[in-house]
Amino acid sequence: FKVPAIDNEPMKSYAPGSAERKGLEAAIAQMEQELPFEVPCIVNGQPVKTGKLFKQPIPSNHARHLCEYHEADEATVARAIDGALAAKAEWEAMPWNDRAAIFLRAADLVSGKYRYKLMAATILGQGKNAWQAEIDAAAELSDFLRFGVKYVEELYATQPPKNSPGVWNRVEYRALEGFVLAVSPFNFTAIGGNLPGAPAMVGNTVVWKPSPAATYSNYIVYQILAEAGVPPGVIQFVPGPPAEVVAQAISHPSFAALHFTGSTFVFKKLWKDIAANLDKYKGYPRIVGETGGKNFHVVHQSAEIQNAALQSVRAGFEYQGQKCSALSRVYVSSSAWNGGFKEKFLSEIAKIKVGRPQDFTNFMGPVIGRPAYDRIISKIKEAKDAGGEVLIGGTGDDSEGYFIQPTVILTKDPKSVTMREEIFGPVITVFVFEDNDWEKTLDLVDTTSEYGLTGSIFSQDRRALIQATNKLRNAAGNVYYNEKCTGAVVGQQPFGGARASGTNDKAGSMSIFYRFVSARSIKESF
Ligand code: SER
Repeated sequence: FKVPAIDNEPMKSYAPGSAERKGLEAAIAQMEQELPFEVPCIVNGQPVKTGKLFKQPIPSNHARHLCEYHEADEATVARAIDGALAAKAEWEAMPWNDRAAIFLRAADLVSGKYRYKLMAATILGQGKNAWQAEIDAAAELSDFLRFGVKYVEELYATQPPKNSPGVWNRVEYRALEGFVLAVSPFNFTAIGGNLPGAPAMVGNTVVWKPSPAATYSNYIVYQILAEAGVPPGVIQFVPGPPAEVVAQAISHPSFAALHFTGSTFVFKKLWKDIAANLDKYKGYPRIVGETGGKNFHVVHQSAEIQNAALQSVRAGFEYQGQKCSALSRVYVSSSAWNGGFKEKFLSEIAKIKVGRPQDFTNFMGPVIGRPAYDRIISKIKEAKDAGGEVLIGGTGDDSEGYFIQPTVILTKDPKSVTMREEIFGPVITVFVFEDNDWEKTLDLVDTTSEYGLTGSIFSQDRRALIQATNKLRNAAGNVYYNEKCTGAVVGQQPFGGARASGTNDKAGSMSIFYRFVSARSIKESF
């Protein structure tokens, strides 16, 4: 068998009066009426209510909460691990076509039956506007599932090119020995699906700890996978408390891999903890992680200025700058800055409306929660104290929700704190360089931050593009020419960065699947 032809999920427009706008509005209204929802842990397909309830607030209206979830306790995590280990043999032995069919069916459920419900949960719970939720919960999630199936099919078909006479060499891509721990972030519902989904596709069983701030949407993802046919025990849904669940899982002797997206700090800590536990394990665990970024746009004097300015607004402020790929530092040549970039950039930002994400006129919603709000506001203050000039924004209002205005800081110090440190919020710092300093600026871009996730070069001069690409060899795992540094599409731009940004195993590509298999070579002589 061959899997059917795969394509990216077409995006809907949500134009006023469209069927999709009505469908989504109805789903949001229904969810607002029925909330808060109760979310159990799911172990071996059965709900587990530990009674230790934790609330997932609505960031645009923090007096309310979207769900109350039962935090997994030690006994529940232990049962989840045992169940995952017990479910593995049958799951791994399931014929590939049947496993593939389950994930293809899940993709259809995401893009069809559950599209608006999943988007509504992402809008209310994670603060995305409709279009951002569409990119994430509808399109990217179904793309991860469909393209994942295609990549796994290709992986299984990848066989040694040579057999000597009388010999048949083959490679079997076994699942890892043990269980996989998936730890997913709040900022993409799709990543919530992909972190457990990708290892499960190649026959692993997975203990999944979703982000506390995305529990409800991730619970719907779990339900979709179960409805599509993922058998009980194959993916165990164990929300919070993060540190305890993760520590328990990685100290288990059958821990085989970590599939992680989240902060650099946590990822480094887990890596060290795993190293400290190494003697307990049967093998060397695979560690796959995507963390932060300090993503850049560099605008050469030859750039199309209007385009560079518009793309910078989108990359910095879509989803409130909370994509790991979000733009946070801009280096712009002085002739571009003074020749229209500044004006276009600031006038577009001035038009941005910030408010509840279920209101279709708002380009920006809230940041995810109290700690994020406080951190971002204090970083803006720190930048100002260090001499940064706030050109627009700089303020927030947390009386109802965690709203922060899109903020631009102009700095004369290219190594100032907001040029260096990840903020994960709607703050762009701009450094204006002299046109003649192109190469010097590329050095700055390369050496100012510890990260290496995404970056864009805006230039109509091919020589400048080539110089930048060579100089910034390791500064970004995803590079864009004349295009914003966010919005990698599954199947088109494999996504991930190196340096402190992660292991660069490229989500949305075939390479990620290699990390979750343990290959066995078989040579048979006839
Ligand atoms: N893949 C997303 C992007 O490229 C971020 O996680 O924007």
